[in-house]
Amino acid sequence: MVKKKIYSFSELSSPSGEVGRGVGIRSDFPILGRKIYDKYPLVYLDNAATTQKPRCVVEAMTDEYYNVNANVHRGVHFLSQQATDLHEQARETVRRFLNARSTNEIIFTRGTTESINLVASCFGQAFMKEGDEVLITEMEHHANIVSWQLVQARQGIKIRVIPISDEGELILDGIDDFFNEKTRIVSLTHVSNVLGTINPIKDIIRIAHAHGVPVLIDGAQSTPHFRVDVQDLDCDFFAFSGHKIYGPTGIGVLYGKEEWLEKLPPYMGGGEMIKTVTFEHTTFNDLPYKFEAGTPDYVASTGLAKALDYVSSIGLDVIESHEKDLTAYAMKRMMEIPGMKIFGPKDINQHDAVISFLVSLPSTGGAGKGAFIHHLDMGTLLDRLGIAIRTGHHCAEPLMHRLGIEGTCRASFALYNTREEVDALVSAILRIQQMF
Ligand code: ALA
Repeated sequence: MVKKKIYSFSELSSPSGEVGRGVGIRSDFPILGRKIYDKYPLVYLDNAATTQKPRCVVEAMTDEYYNVNANVHRGVHFLSQQATDLHEQARETVRRFLNARSTNEIIFTRGTTESINLVASCFGQAFMKEGDEVLITEMEHHANIVSWQLVQARQGIKIRVIPISDEGELILDGIDDFFNEKTRIVSLTHVSNVLGTINPIKDIIRIAHAHGVPVLIDGAQSTPHFRVDVQDLDCDFFAFSGHKIYGPTGIGVLYGKEEWLEKLPPYMGGGEMIKTVTFEHTTFNDLPYKFEAGTPDYVASTGLAKALDYVSSIGLDVIESHEKDLTAYAMKRMMEIPGMKIFGPKDINQHDAVISFLVSLPSTGGAGKGAFIHHLDMGTLLDRLGIAIRTGHHCAEPLMHRLGIEGTCRASFALYNTREEVDALVSAILRIQQMF
């Protein structure tokens, strides 16, 4: 049972004293107290790449290694049973978090990438033949492009791409025209890791289902920021990663409706995913184990469950409203910088906690008109001022081509970020602009 801890909004948004030395939630994250280059308190704004870990996650994992460790599902001995219980309780925690019908629908994977590859590979094998089509979008992460290209190379399928507007939103006028008798699946991101765009996936799922087509959602960038209910969305598959939601690396989840998972062939062969094996023939295990060959990362599943409990104890609605406030504040403050170009929707209701930007050289003036300070230079100099952001194409090269740029600077927020950190970012960008 998770003990409900109520945080006040100010505890979330206002660290007392200097930036990086917070109270409340920030003190749950030891790394936020670290000084970078022994000079600057860390301002960590690279949360879309990975989030920091609260003490409770690390401690739960340490405790399991120190006191419980044994392989799961395989031993009659005490420790194995206890480790198995923890692993299966973690599956139940994930089920509750997503509001899935059954734990049979929760597959542990290594992360979103593996979850998407699993669906592409197994769905492609079972339901796609040469000329069949998958629908993706222009704002996809490489994980949701290359996985399908592998199926294309093997089976000759066709990848069709829903375009985006200059604002960075999906162009859904005429979406029905993308569906035909060869469309087998739609696979798209819930939230763009570059633009912050929140896609209207419920509408898209409804439209796809009206055409008899299932939908896979890449939820890597949505699950940390707002509530996801897979039954309400009615998606067929949903993928997310542990490390982006304050959990450990190396673990993620694939949710799939039971009726689909039953029909898919296994992804990998090995222990645990079988019922009986002879040299001639193998029968496969029931769900969810059919998709979990080999020893699972049962310590990471405990860490993930702890992270989900942690997030739930704060409340995803509280987190969402804090991050919305922060993102709106950041957009406003950043737009005060001369020559600032922010990518993605201007409407904060369509824009999640990710801000991709470029800044013009002061001499050229005008947002987006002149040459930009190279994203790598900006990222490197910000780093020297103690501010961690991500730069580059963010694993979305086709999106960069669409935007006509090589890369962006990206600041991305989490529940522990503050307005003071946004102010630090803005001051640092202004300072760097003066250096050029
Ligand atoms: N996909 C992660 C990102 O957007 C790594 O940074």
